[in-house]
Amino acid sequence: MRKTTILGTGSYLPSKVLTNQDISKILDTNDEWIVSRTGIRERRIVAEGETCSDLAYHASLKALEDAELTPNDLDMMIVATLTPEKRLPSTACLLQDKLQAKKAAVYDIGVACSGFVYGMSIADQYIQTGTLNHILVVGSEVMSKVLNWKDRSTCILFGDGAGAALLGPAKTPAKTGEKIILSTHLFSNGSLYRLLEMPAGGTAMEWTPDVFEQGYHLVKMDGKQVFREAIESMVDASKIALQKAHKTMEDVNLFIPHQANTRIIDAIAKRLKCPEEKIFVNVDKYGNTSGASIPIALDEAIKQGRLKKGDLLLIATFGAGFAWGSALIRW
Ligand code: ACO
Repeated sequence: MRKTTILGTGSYLPSKVLTNQDISKILDTNDEWIVSRTGIRERRIVAEGETCSDLAYHASLKALEDAELTPNDLDMMIVATLTPEKRLPSTACLLQDKLQAKKAAVYDIGVACSGFVYGMSIADQYIQTGTLNHILVVGSEVMSKVLNWKDRSTCILFGDGAGAALLGPAKTPAKTGEKIILSTHLFSNGSLYRLLEMPAGGTAMEWTPDVFEQGYHLVKMDGKQVFREAIESMVDASKIALQKAHKTMEDVNLFIPHQANTRIIDAIAKRLKCPEEKIFVNVDKYGNTSGASIPIALDEAIKQGRLKKGDLLLIATFGAGFAWGSALIRW
């Protein structure tokens, strides 16, 4: 079977910065509380009229440019988002229209924060089996539009942004320096869905004034439980990825966990015995960008020179559902 390589990456963050200080002007909160509980200092927010497919478009163009490919080379585009631009059609279709990627089959996946790793795993299967060649996986979120800005325990956590990776077949045998996906591992537990959800907005609840008044169409979360589950799940998924590859944390050169909260990241690192210098963190600048968190972090890590030829990259992800997972990539 063929191996999958990462041909290029890109990311895009809206220019408007919303600091903790800014939020403290509209809510009973403060910078000290937010930084000490989450590590988040600021996040990006879309401009008036800027949409989920706009963010995805800018990140995708950069990934295409990085891979030296054009939209016409794409066989498939998978958009991971929990904040789709419309209920119909998929955000991937709107992205396709913007990119004019006419040959591609496109669709959204709804795996919340873990959507990018799920998307990468799906793309990996098509490429390994030789079914398709060039697949763009995009995580794009406009979280600011689905947050309850009266709920200080959730609205401080999230931000807007997009990241993309272009995947394709590696040379056979793979050449040194090709970024090879060694494995992906996906897990879910739907019985815990109530801990993190947007109860309205689908077909379960009628669109009544009460729904809007109560904010049932917005993100609702049991922060403490999510906190515990996120740590357990990302530790387990990381261990499984390492065990299956007969590797230990000592073999890992860079660890990119889902960027939700520095306390979650610190707890995972402690449990995995992962030293601080091996962990990539940018949640302080962008907050939790959900499905865009991993591809933005991956793109930034590459651009900052954090990955060298031959390095082993471990990725761990977790999100609503719950759905979580991991990936091992040889750089
Ligand atoms: N500013 C000031 N005080 C606040 C704020 C705020 N923004 N938010 C909550 N508080 C108060 C609470 O009201 C409470 O006050 P009380 O003691 O008078 O009742 C106090 O702070 C403590 O609240 P807790 O909820 O116990 O605070 P905790 O330490 O658990 O931190 C937090 C809350 C940050 C939400 C934490 O639970 C957390 O990080 N959970 C994980 C959330 C997460 O990352 N989710 C996303 C992961 S999955 C995904 O990405 C989709």
